Amino acid sequence: MKKVKVGIVGLGRLGRQHAENLAFRIPGCELTAVCSVIESEVEEVQKQWNIPYGYTSYEEMLENKELDAIFIASPSGFHCDQIKKALAAGFHVFSEKPLGLYLEEALEVQEAVNNHPDQVFMLGFMRRYDRSYMAAKEAIERGEIGEPFMIRCYGLDPASKLDGFLQFARANYSGGLFLDMSIHDFDLARWYLGTEAKETWAIGGAYARPEFDEINDAETGAAMVHFENNTMGIFVAGRNCAHGYHIETEIIGTKGSLRIGTVPEKNQVVIMKEEGVIQECFDGFLERFEQAYQKEAEEFINCIIEQRKPEVTVEDGVKSTELGYACKQSYESKELVKLNEFIAVD
Ligand code: NAI
Repeated sequence: MKKVKVGIVGLGRLGRQHAENLAFRIPGCELTAVCSVIESEVEEVQKQWNIPYGYTSYEEMLENKELDAIFIASPSGFHCDQIKKALAAGFHVFSEKPLGLYLEEALEVQEAVNNHPDQVFMLGFMRRYDRSYMAAKEAIERGEIGEPFMIRCYGLDPASKLDGFLQFARANYSGGLFLDMSIHDFDLARWYLGTEAKETWAIGGAYARPEFDEINDAETGAAMVHFENNTMGIFVAGRNCAHGYHIETEIIGTKGSLRIGTVPEKNQVVIMKEEGVIQECFDGFLERFEQAYQKEAEEFINCIIEQRKPEVTVEDGVKSTELGYACKQSYESKELVKLNEFIAVD
């Protein structure tokens, strides 16, 4: 069977992991082209993995008609434009989260996706492909915790990566804490609670590192969300987690609750010594979600081969962007934001 030929844009922290998965770990797929504005990244990956085509211009890559699909792992502010261009050029498209940084541009992408019904579009909400998050979904659907009415999420980046993040944030606008980090939790809330957000109140600040005030972002923040079906969500996000990368989710129902990732242990080793009983923590998203990144890419390629649509849709991208932007607006204005009333463009 003919392999799906993929071109990837963005060869940074996550793009390189996706590229490696596409090149070596996904059956039915061939990584045929790589693109980044940094020429040395393109040359390195091309040479290391023997990739036929390399580009520093995204538009030039889209002229390569050998390709079937485009995988977007560039900074968030480029996603919408790059998705629309790839769809218009006839490609299937996978894009990293968030779909967009503003509701208006996310809606434009939705229209573009809907205008190309024969092309597969998928968004990188990889937690839906993580074994533990999938098991939780199945448990909820079996009725194990009764009717879920509340979700509590922690999305905490390690303090050890904070300097790198500040450098990244100064160069690339990420949309701020809620659009960049809590977006995964917003998608999970919609997935598990089966509803859309109605109103939100978000707070936050810079506690350990005042540089966050300079980039007009919160180092740590919390959003309280009321959903349309009267369920509730509490979302904590931060960039200064001393013990490592901590992603934790709790869903509370009328007959019980379940938790995912309460202790973010790296592996099953427990070290017992003078300092105490120690378990090492995940040090970042690549380690914690390795299996999920591979599984979501596999699903994208299988959807193309089997001519079907993935579970994660452009609507999921629009709704999560809308909530993320509402939280950003609430954090900045210090007011409660009702989602059907707020203005979603700057
Ligand atoms: P990064 O800064 O490490 O890498 C960005 C890459 O894109 C670099 O190779 C850079 O040269 C390239 N690039 C920048 N502008 C470009 C342009 N105009 N055209 C072509 N290439 C361009 O960023 P990182 O951390 O890899 O994030 C990339 C995206 O992935 C972001 O949207 C981020 O939100 C998302 N992400 C998702 C995660 C998840 O868990 N699903 C985790 C981390 C990031």
